[in-house]
Amino acid sequence: MLRKRFLLPLLAACGAAVEISVASSGGNATSGLQYGIMEELIRNRAFQGGEKYPSNLDAWIPIDGSALSLKNLSQPLSSALPTSVNVKGTAGKAGLTNLGWWGIDVREQTYTGSFYVKGAYNGTFTASLQSNKTGEVYASAVIVSKSARGEWTQHNFTLTPTKAASNTQNTFSITFDASVSGYLNDPHLSLITCDPSNKSAVLAVWGGFALNGDAIPESELGTYVQDALDELEFLTGSVDTEYGALRASLGHPDPWTVKYVEVGNEDNLNDGLDSYKSYRFQAFYDAIKEKYPDITVLASTVEIDFPGDAGGDYHLYDTPDNFVEKFNYFDHSTDAKSSGATPAISHSTHGGSAVSQKGSSSSAPKETPTKSLEQHTFGPLYYVAGVDNTSNSHIFKAAVYNSTADVPVSLTFDGVKAGTSASLTVLTAADPLGMNEVGAANIVDKKTSTVTAGVNGVFDFSLPNLSVAVLKTE
Ligand SMILES: *[C@@H]1O[C@H](CO)[C@@H](O)[C@H](O)[C@H]1NC(C)=O
Ligand SMILES: *[C@@H]1O[C@H](CO)[C@@H](O)[C@H](O)[C@H]1NC(C)=O
Ligand SMILES: *[C@@H]1O[C@H](CO)[C@@H](O)[C@H](O)[C@H]1NC(C)=O
Ligand SMILES: *[C@@H]1O[C@H](CO)[C@@H](O)[C@H](O)[C@H]1NC(C)=O
Ligand SMILES: *[C@@H]1O[C@H](CO)[C@@H](O)[C@H](O)[C@H]1NC(C)=O
Ligand SMILES: *[C@@H]1O[C@H](CO)[C@@H](O)[C@H](O)[C@H]1NC(C)=O
Ligand SMILES: *[C@@H]1O[C@H](CO)[C@@H](O)[C@H](O)[C@H]1NC(C)=O
Ligand SMILES: *[C@@H]1O[C@H](CO)[C@@H](O)[C@H](O)[C@H]1NC(C)=O
Ligand SMILES: *[C@@H]1O[C@H](CO)[C@@H](O)[C@H](O)[C@H]1NC(C)=O
Repeated sequence: MLRKRFLLPLLAACGAAVEISVASSGGNATSGLQYGIMEELIRNRAFQGGEKYPSNLDAWIPIDGSALSLKNLSQPLSSALPTSVNVKGTAGKAGLTNLGWWGIDVREQTYTGSFYVKGAYNGTFTASLQSNKTGEVYASAVIVSKSARGEWTQHNFTLTPTKAASNTQNTFSITFDASVSGYLNDPHLSLITCDPSNKSAVLAVWGGFALNGDAIPESELGTYVQDALDELEFLTGSVDTEYGALRASLGHPDPWTVKYVEVGNEDNLNDGLDSYKSYRFQAFYDAIKEKYPDITVLASTVEIDFPGDAGGDYHLYDTPDNFVEKFNYFDHSTDAKSSGATPAISHSTHGGSAVSQKGSSSSAPKETPTKSLEQHTFGPLYYVAGVDNTSNSHIFKAAVYNSTADVPVSLTFDGVKAGTSASLTVLTAADPLGMNEVGAANIVDKKTSTVTAGVNGVFDFSLPNLSVAVLKTE
């Protein structure tokens, strides 16, 4: 979200170095909207595998020497969720930790979650959110075990941090006492969740287009629009409606709340855009808004003129040059119109996607990232600069793309004096498509060094082609 205090970087070419001086007010504010509305915090929550990728323990690590092993029990949680994790503790505390989607954003808000246990355990479980760096526990809940031999039992909990974490390097854990008597079996756990209690799911409905390029003609689309309306009635309708009654007959009389509906998926691909723009999106939008005016209807692409209060899924697989063009895309954005339900930028070179993210990002939640100047003054160095409210650190984030040589940078911040030191972290890779994968050698090189501001508070350093860098004053 936008912050009130902006910084104004000014750039002037002088000799070979790019000179940037960051003022303490002004500037173009970037927006957190690009992070979208994805609110699931636990990664790999049900250990699900598939034909191509077997079930795995990605994002899970054992606590205090516990042994974690995946099992497909003969009595699974459900036929759709066949896999569970067996947690074998030694004496004392046993359990497992989830690393989230590369961290967990801990705020002063309520988190609700649950996990399923199979195996008899007569004791308590503890669910917690903590810093992965300092171990500080932001919230924890003790849950009395209801587990019984041979049965899957659900355990619910609520976590309410009394303060927000200063960064996202946090994890979620479940622990139990491996030495409690009455502990007959190593418990199996599955479907472990913990999410903001006010989270809002996005319901995706089929938008009349198949991946092979076939679009349902306008004259036949009505059936599918009606399907979407029926699905919404099934989820949100009272038990007096046809589909609300069907839901109740299946055991869920309480309706759900649906705030967002996305029409289709990636409709800009395989020549889908023409039919999406000319009739498909509008047909779903009109019908849904007529019956459910409070629902926000999202297009599956932003390459469309949004009717009414529609939003869009900024769902991008693109080339580096196109990411450069979108450097300013989220500047000053305050409404969710083009917020990404699924910002997907994985199919790009890291240089290109870094440029687009630099153009609109702050990864430290309390930082005030800004940039200014017209786009033609950026490149091959793209950057934002700002200040971290909590630590008062000055921050500069940059990406170098398409340079024929290293780019020297001379950087000053208003109020930062000679002798101030800063950490400079630089990521780079020889191959534009290089990325680090779990278990493989690190192809992307990461180097952190200390740089000291010289005369007039100038930080001098140089960044190689295809690099991403963060400088933070200490
Ligand atoms: C950061 O500081 C500015 C001005 O000092 C204030 O307006 C803003 O609300 C602060 N942001 C956060 C996230 O604390
Ligand atoms: C469990 O079964 C699923 C599919 O039925 C498979 O993908 C997965 O790899 C299996 N996991 C284990 C631990 O056997
Ligand atoms: C947390 O620490 C573990 C190692 O103990 C590491 O593998 C993981 O990347 C860290 N996660 C975060 C979000 O810092
Ligand atoms: C856990 O919470 C869910 C959602 O509120 C509820 O449907 C379920 O009955 C609860 N389970 C238990 C065992 O209380
Ligand atoms: C569980 O522990 C409580 C207190 O320690 C005890 O009273 C109870 O009998 C135990 N239940 C089982 C099933 O072992
Ligand atoms: C949930 O509440 C938190 C804290 O008040 C807020 O930052 C977040 O935007 C809310 N999320 C939704 C989906 O309303
Ligand atoms: C990057 O370099 C290629 C090849 O010279 C050129 O076609 C492209 O326009 C450049 N892109 C940017 C953003 O500078
Ligand atoms: C903000 O960016 C625009 C172009 O994207 C530029 O014209 C304007 O000068 C910038 N404003 C400030 C205060 O830097
Ligand atoms: C810098 O990266 C771009 C984009 O991949 C590439 O086209 C160019 O050849 C690189 N320049 C040098 C000097 O390696």
